[in-house]
Amino acid sequence: MKAIAEAHPNIALVKYWGKRDQKLNLPAVGSISVTLDGLKTVSSVHFQPELKEDRLWINDKEASPQQTERVSRFLDLIRQKSGIKYRAEVQSHNNFPTGAGLASSASAFASLALAGSRAAGLNLNPSQLSELARLGSGSAARSIFGGFVEMKVGEKEDGSDAIAIKLEDKNYWNLRILIAITSEEEKKIGSTAGMQHTAKSSPFYHQWVLSSQLDLDMMRRAIFSRNFSQLGEIAEHNCLKMHAVAMSAKPALLYWNHTTLSVMHVIRQLREQGTLAYFTIDAGPQVKILCRPGDAEYLGKRILQIEGVQKVLVTSLGSDARLIEDEP
Ligand code: DP6
Repeated sequence: MKAIAEAHPNIALVKYWGKRDQKLNLPAVGSISVTLDGLKTVSSVHFQPELKEDRLWINDKEASPQQTERVSRFLDLIRQKSGIKYRAEVQSHNNFPTGAGLASSASAFASLALAGSRAAGLNLNPSQLSELARLGSGSAARSIFGGFVEMKVGEKEDGSDAIAIKLEDKNYWNLRILIAITSEEEKKIGSTAGMQHTAKSSPFYHQWVLSSQLDLDMMRRAIFSRNFSQLGEIAEHNCLKMHAVAMSAKPALLYWNHTTLSVMHVIRQLREQGTLAYFTIDAGPQVKILCRPGDAEYLGKRILQIEGVQKVLVTSLGSDARLIEDEP
């Protein structure tokens, strides 16, 4: 009763920030992302009759009680669905910094949904896997799929239509996503707490939710017409709007450091000089830069020169989550 699966993180071009139901982890807004190649989480789940409790290792280190508890609650859902009573040993390996705004919860819960359900003998289709992954982390619902992915906000109370769908495959459009690492510290306020706090205390939250529909419509159009400048402009606008609403919470949420801001300025300057590149930032200080393949090398070198940038990862569009090993 063991399975191993891998999933890639994703970067939201139109962001999920806010929930309409905390228990079922239903988003208040839809979102659109690109799944990344190069970066990945590999998770193995092994249900064993002799275990008294679930155990979790992340990158070969025993996880904190909070992390283990979150994964254990997720495994409870798989136990409910499959009728299995056993506890599990879970190993998760990321080949990128954990907890610093690189969407580690997305690839973690997407890989866990696939490995955990297979280890328990379930054979879920991609939509069912996306629904399951969402219960672990909203953005994980998108990492079940590769390429361009949309998370539907859904209408149903049971959350069965709050799932991701693939908009276009990874080979549809050859783009690069550079990731400027500006800090490897764990962020202080994670996305779950950050979005709840924003919903409760920002005077602009309602407007954020209302305006996301238009961003989603325009982003879909930009993708379907392969219009790169439109894609970049909407992504940058939506990112700044998400951070603006988070900054307007009380007390304010500020995920950026000095270097984050320097990178944003350089990208805007480069654009004025004719290099088509756009930034987006999640709930952390790293800056993700969207560009076309021909500009990636120059941009990577230029960004690495900015004081405080520790490294630049170059990625392109990644594949669906996949099963690596399956032992009944
Ligand atoms: C800023 O998916 O981490 O990255 O559902 O509470 O686990 P939970 O939140 P999570 O939030 C991601 C927020 C974001 C934007 C995005 O990925 O859409």
